Amino acid sequence: MTEVTKSRIYRTVIVVLLLVIAGMAYKFIFAGSTAAGDDQRVAVILDPGERALMLREMREFVGSVQGIVDALSREDMKAVAVAARRMGMARSHDVPAGLMGKLPLEFKALALGVHRGFDAMAMDAESIGMPRHTLEQLSAALQQCVACHARYQVKEAPVRNR
Ligand code: HEC
Repeated sequence: MTEVTKSRIYRTVIVVLLLVIAGMAYKFIFAGSTAAGDDQRVAVILDPGERALMLREMREFVGSVQGIVDALSREDMKAVAVAARRMGMARSHDVPAGLMGKLPLEFKALALGVHRGFDAMAMDAESIGMPRHTLEQLSAALQQCVACHARYQVKEAPVRNR
């Protein structure tokens, strides 16, 4: 094999590998694991355990919203901060990398937006301490819940035979 042929083969192998890496990065970062849903929404396809984890986090969102509204009704801004911080960015770090890779980019952006919103609510409740301002922030966060629910549903991947 001549040197020229060898370097051509190397170059081809490198290009193929780069394409594979680009394809995986696209799938992992942008596309996620999705299919057309049965009600006009996009279905995110997850394993049963991942779906259970996501839905549990959703129920915790409702719990946190309840805690915030309850604390607001008493104008207890310290309790607002505690309830809001429970669903802040720190909470998003519990999401396993495998599940993260199945979420489309827009889904991740909406989810991070909500987590950041809760952190901002906690910070402002402590520093500004104005219930009306918290209510505005809560409304903005709830709009993102609504936007995501309007666009996505979650379905379980068929269980593989083991
Ligand atoms: C990034 C997308 C996204 C955001 C943001 C989001 N959700 Fe969800 N949520 C979903 C999906 C997808 C489902 C599953 C819906 C389905 O399959 O029909 C869901 C389901 C739920 C459920 C049902 C849980 C169960 O056990 O079945 C609740 C309650 C919920 N979300 C509350 C909230 C609240 C409250 C917020 C905002 C504070 C929120 N979600 C923000 C995507 C999101």
